[in-house]
Amino acid sequence: MIWLIGNKGMLGTELSLLLEKKGIPHTGTDREVDITDPAALGVFAEKQAAAGQPFTWIINCAAYTAVDKAEGDAETCGRLNTDGPGNIAETAKKIGARLIHFSTDYVFNGRGSQPYKEDDPTDPTGVYGLTKRDGERRILAANDATWIIRTAWLYGRYGNNFVHTMLRLMKERDSVSVVKDQRGSPTWAYDLANAVTLLIAAVEGGKPVSPDIYHYTNEGNITWFDFAQEIYAQGRKLGLIPKACAVKPCASAEFPAKVTRPAYSVLDKGKMQAALGIEIPAWDASLEQYLRTCVP
Ligand SMILES: NC(=O)c1ccc[n+]([C@@H]2O[C@H](COP(=O)([O-])OP(=O)(O)OC[C@H]3O[C@@H](n4cnc5c(N)ncnc54)[C@H](OP(=O)(O)O)[C@@H]3O)[C@@H](O)[C@H]2O)c1
Repeated sequence: MIWLIGNKGMLGTELSLLLEKKGIPHTGTDREVDITDPAALGVFAEKQAAAGQPFTWIINCAAYTAVDKAEGDAETCGRLNTDGPGNIAETAKKIGARLIHFSTDYVFNGRGSQPYKEDDPTDPTGVYGLTKRDGERRILAANDATWIIRTAWLYGRYGNNFVHTMLRLMKERDSVSVVKDQRGSPTWAYDLANAVTLLIAAVEGGKPVSPDIYHYTNEGNITWFDFAQEIYAQGRKLGLIPKACAVKPCASAEFPAKVTRPAYSVLDKGKMQAALGIEIPAWDASLEQYLRTCVP
């Protein structure tokens, strides 16, 4: 039995639907079982065990993900991204469950030029990245039966994300300006959710997928401007954007933000690919499938 924590967020909802579709037994919680409250986590786990279906896996999708807001809200962000995962790791250890947790490209400073590997030195530059990095450390110190998956540039059916924002702006405006000096890999939450189910199956099937840090994004890397251009091209082709809209490149400096976003966010996925023996879908193929099947 899987405990899916943060089941109402973007990735959590996608995972919830996929587990349902694949017939994998699971129970989901979100804010009603507060991850910053270790007692609440313990009580929920005990109730489940008392009902005769103890959790064998915990997947944690709960997090503080408002990157800019985090700069003025470091305490809450730390409670959610560092203490919360630590509490979950301790709960998992107590009940003997395996844990899957998600982290981010923001643990790196983004000044690299080669895809980041799992053991490259971390150097977060903002509160969100720092609290997520510390969350990784807390988890690894508390529970070695943990798989931490770092991902980046997520979009999906649920919640605010770049694809939804672009589609809305492209319908409303004659032009949109998008930054061309940040590079990364757009990642469909469905593809990541699918990789998680494959990881669980591999571990349960006895494959040597050891608990560790792994990277997962869609294949390929581009700038936000390139991504917007492709959203526009595919959106027009599919009739999702009824009128013309110019997509213009600009620099991050033109959008003053509280936090500097990594200029280079590309993650090396070789370790995950080798461990699971999977092909990772290309970002543009996944975008097309997403727009065709998930956007009304
Ligand atoms: N989104 C991205 O582009 C991205 C990129 C890289 C890594 N990640 C990582 O991927 C994971 C999933 O991200 P996401 O975008 O799916 O996150 P999300 O949409 O923000 O979902 C997080 C969920 O956690 C819930 N939550 C907040 N406080 C909680 C608490 N105290 N106890 C229990 N649940 C609580 C949130 O509820 P409320 O909505 O009510 O706050 C929300 O439902 C996170 O670890 C994130 O750091 C995301």
